[in-house]
Amino acid sequence: MSREPRVTGPDPHPTLPTQWPRKSGPNPADPATRWAQSVRAVLDEAARTLTEAGVASPRVDAEELLAHALGVRRAALASGTGPEPAALQRFSALVEQRAERVPLQHLTGVAGFRYLELSVGPGVFVPRPETELLTGWAIDRLRDVPAPMVADLCAGSGAIALSIAHEVPAADVYAVELDPMAVAWARRNADQRAGAGDRPITLVEADAADAHVLAEYDGMLDAVVMNPPYVPDDAVVDREVAEHDPPLALYGGPDGLSVVRRLIDRAAHLLQAGGILGIEHADLQGEALPAEVAADGRFADVEDHRDLNDRPRFTTATRR
Ligand SMILES: C[S@@+](CC[C@H](N)C(=O)[O-])C[C@H]1O[C@@H](n2cnc3c(N)ncnc32)[C@H](O)[C@@H]1O
Repeated sequence: MSREPRVTGPDPHPTLPTQWPRKSGPNPADPATRWAQSVRAVLDEAARTLTEAGVASPRVDAEELLAHALGVRRAALASGTGPEPAALQRFSALVEQRAERVPLQHLTGVAGFRYLELSVGPGVFVPRPETELLTGWAIDRLRDVPAPMVADLCAGSGAIALSIAHEVPAADVYAVELDPMAVAWARRNADQRAGAGDRPITLVEADAADAHVLAEYDGMLDAVVMNPPYVPDDAVVDREVAEHDPPLALYGGPDGLSVVRRLIDRAAHLLQAGGILGIEHADLQGEALPAEVAADGRFADVEDHRDLNDRPRFTTATRR
């Protein structure tokens, strides 16, 4: 005769497991262990493929691409319940493209820059970590200026301009960009940031060296910041750069300084006395660019700054 249980709900004395988890070492039957093992295996193989293709950071890129294919953050790769076959197919297609030296950020569609995640892809320069230093320098100086007026003269994706708008909420930020494709990316990022609550920036599609551009603010700006094209025309660059960053974003004439020479003059007109100028440059231009700024004659306190690898990276000055 069967007895009705007197209580409902989970059995307070469940059947004991026939096999206890081992104290040391992973339990191969555990889904988390199986996950970790399969993740490690696919990452090892992808990293090998990317190493053979000459990718500079193969393991990190493989992890970023797998996280992208799975729709999770990279940190979440450590835990999970088993990669879906469809996700693994997506991952393998991404690794193939990365091995063809398509930039990681074009594959994931985003680039992290300071506190922002910006949309990027074909037609716009991928923002680089070194530009965060120049941006941080400007932000540190603008924080205590009441309602500062700032221009980014080579906006690209909007990385510098949007970071300043995000971190210096009182700032009025103008971003000038010549390339219509880049302007479209900057607009998308600017709309996204404004939607997230940042103060909207003013985006201008124009040659920033043109005397008519922002002419109504001549002599009024507190800061001009820029990461202009500065690569010498005959310089050899990585495949990701040569094949995917727009040439207009890269090349600056025979010595790399043709565009920035015109922009220094424009900055001198835009800035008020005491206003600050910050310009990124190539590591080989740590003497040439400060010399150009000093030779203009309208700037004082010309200084060059190094990056975390101790390479000359950006020049700053104050409008007399
Ligand atoms: C090196 S990218 C920098 C983009 C962005 N500021 C960043 O740091 O990621 C230079 C940008 O300047 C733009 N550019 C080049 N010449 C310009 C000019 N005369 N006026 C305005 N923008 C220009 C390029 O199209 C490109 O988007």
